[in-house]
Amino acid sequence: MRIISPSILSANFSKLGQEIRMLNESRAEWIHFDVMDGVFVNNISFGFPILKSVRALTEKVLDVHLMITEPEKYIERFANSGADIITFHVESTKNVEECITKIHSLSKKAGITLRPSTPVKSIIPYLNSVDMVLVMSVEPGFGGQKFIPESLDKVRRIKEELEKVSSRALIEIDGGVGIENVKEVFESGVDIVVAGSAIFSSNEPEKEIERMLEV
Ligand code: DX5
Ligand code: ZN
Repeated sequence: MRIISPSILSANFSKLGQEIRMLNESRAEWIHFDVMDGVFVNNISFGFPILKSVRALTEKVLDVHLMITEPEKYIERFANSGADIITFHVESTKNVEECITKIHSLSKKAGITLRPSTPVKSIIPYLNSVDMVLVMSVEPGFGGQKFIPESLDKVRRIKEELEKVSSRALIEIDGGVGIENVKEVFESGVDIVVAGSAIFSSNEPEKEIERMLEV
């Protein structure tokens, strides 16, 4: 599977509606929505009202990435605001199982993710219950950072672990991916590539998405 999930953290917020309509016309199947609370990461982005506005404009899969502490408190509101997939950080909660169960009870897909410095073993107990594993290939918090090459070893490790437990969970990667490295990223076993600056800083974002899918 090869899916591009443009991260609207890098969109022009003064014309967010136009940006979403552009994505609707593009070959991107998902839209990535980064939520930051200023506590789990050193940045604050956007939340429920913006997600609702985006939901009203698109039928694409809304791929919500929570970079917030105690995600269990807010999962229901993200589900009700239009998320299709809710991904949370293993480091952000003591109640990982509860988060997964809660997301599933709201009929949404559950993703788990980990910081670049967090070892794969921390997510192994959950591989059979999640629908997706997100590998962070930059430190969460900001768009436009440099890709950490070791992330691909992590992807391969996770793929092996998923196979061991016969899990069909998808693998997504987030951070520092663009036309120069997307081929290698997909070939390592990634199903979904998140890309923010690579798409929104392009003069031809729709074509950039196509190029990234066709490398
Ligand atoms: C970083 C976010 C990413 C970010 C990626 O914390 O999770 O989704 O938007 O941006 P690029 O593609 O510019 O690295
Ligand atoms: Zn993200």
